[in-house]
Amino acid sequence: MAVAAIYAGSFDPITQGHLDIITRALSLFEKVYVSVIENIEKEPLFSIQERIHMIKDSVQDDRVIVEGFQGLLVDYAREKNVFTIIRGLRAVSDFEYEFQMSLTNRALEPKIDTVFLMTDQKYSYLSSSIVRQLGKLGANIDAFVPSNVKQKLQEIYCG
Ligand code: COA
Repeated sequence: MAVAAIYAGSFDPITQGHLDIITRALSLFEKVYVSVIENIEKEPLFSIQERIHMIKDSVQDDRVIVEGFQGLLVDYAREKNVFTIIRGLRAVSDFEYEFQMSLTNRALEPKIDTVFLMTDQKYSYLSSSIVRQLGKLGANIDAFVPSNVKQKLQEIYCG
């Protein structure tokens, strides 16, 4: 039986939607790795250290391990000896990409299984880039990100 799972992403930055998935994952698994990709294909706003730090600040549970990883997710999973991947589903439109990623990961490492958790409906439209855009334009983002993330965005965009 899986006792641990990996929730990987770019988390640029972490949002309430991601935190909702982490909370749900903690009710299913004893330990959750929140694994932040370093060699991100997107141009990140926050450095890997900043992204990790913001997650650690927002998740105060010692069953959550926050760390960076590079390269293939399956290699990282093998390194940790954890073969359950958590993915959040926000809407039907997420499914096709997730399906492709899940089957690719399994083709690369047959032991891998992906567990999909439905994000709370109130976060179903949220993404890190939407949060970055709202932060840049000075919108109220209190409902979308934890206060430490709001503060970091304000430091960048409001000086
Ligand atoms: N709440 C809020 N936003 C969410 C969310 C949720 N519950 N779930 C997803 N999102 C957002 C993310 O913030 C991200 O927003 P952005 O595009 O504005 O930055 C977007 O939805 C896409 O999320 P996701 O699909 O998780 O992408 P990601 O970049 O965060 O992570 C990896 C993708 C890291 C898991 C994947 O690229 C990977 O495994 N890379 C390693 C290389 C590899 O093994 N490749 C082969 C895999 S097939």
